[in-house]
Amino acid sequence: MKRRNFLKDASLLSIAVASGTTLVSACKTDEAASTKKAIPKPILPLAITTWRYPNATKKAWEILEAGGSSLDAVEQGCMVEEADVKNTSVGKGGNPDRDGNVTLDASIMNKDGNYGAVVYLQNITHAISVARKVMEDTPHVLMAGKGAEQFALSKGFKSEQLLTDSTKKAWEKWKKTSKYKPIINIENHDTIGMLAIDKNGDISGACSTSGLAYKMAGRVGDSPIIGSGLFIDNSIGGATATGMGEEVLKTVGSFLIVELMRQGKSPQEACKEAIERIVNSNPNYKHFQVGYIAVNKQGEVGSYSIHEHFSYQLYQNNENKNVKSPFFLKRG
Ligand code: GLY
Repeated sequence: MKRRNFLKDASLLSIAVASGTTLVSACKTDEAASTKKAIPKPILPLAITTWRYPNATKKAWEILEAGGSSLDAVEQGCMVEEADVKNTSVGKGGNPDRDGNVTLDASIMNKDGNYGAVVYLQNITHAISVARKVMEDTPHVLMAGKGAEQFALSKGFKSEQLLTDSTKKAWEKWKKTSKYKPIINIENHDTIGMLAIDKNGDISGACSTSGLAYKMAGRVGDSPIIGSGLFIDNSIGGATATGMGEEVLKTVGSFLIVELMRQGKSPQEACKEAIERIVNSNPNYKHFQVGYIAVNKQGEVGSYSIHEHFSYQLYQNNENKNVKSPFFLKRG
């Protein structure tokens, strides 16, 4: 607004206030414009995950509905999948690396921008809870390997064998050919990335994975790395990732999405642009999958992936639904 107009409007305002009249008539000409700009009240709370994880969102929803925090909701939501041995890419029952060791990565972020994470964690099912303990009970943000495991044990976590009979069998079969060929889509289960907004409007996020099946020993993906697998800015929104972690890491995908939302993009537009960054920088994109989900402070959600078959699970407005995500690559 030009300074002259601003002064004119300001004086109109002071006349209206001084004379005790309402501002309605003074603003009449702007009525249509302001109606258009009205931001709908967010439908809160909500919980959203990558992929089809209705049990995780249900757990998170129960916490949110009872007035619990988004931080508790995302932690306990992820714990559901970590404990599910049928889920072969998260927690106990996750696929091992090529040496037969199950190594977990997880991260968590709260409404205050605090972050905690673990990488290459072995023998502990609930990596997400260890990540939370790193955030809340240590002066650090990221712990790895044996040190992270010892820290978890000191906090009362139970040591467990994470390789199950069935993942051991599958690994032994894989060893016969030892071909490293990540699957483009694991339709119903992969890294769980979860975002939640509680009744206070506060946003938290969490991400937990056993990483790519039969990865090289020592490999770490995007999930535990702040800004890549997960990023939250409670004044703007949050984002989380699934799929080929190397590509998410190279483009710092979740941070990018939050920054794009800060610049005014919707969660959907921001996720799409983050996928386009990957596609534009890597001609090999037909051979791997990446999917993003995001929420903004207004409670709008978005998602985008390279390939079809990526979906997200959304619990909002008393409804727990799985939604197909839009995708980049139309296969002919
Ligand atoms: N997105 C999980 C991983 O690459 O490890």
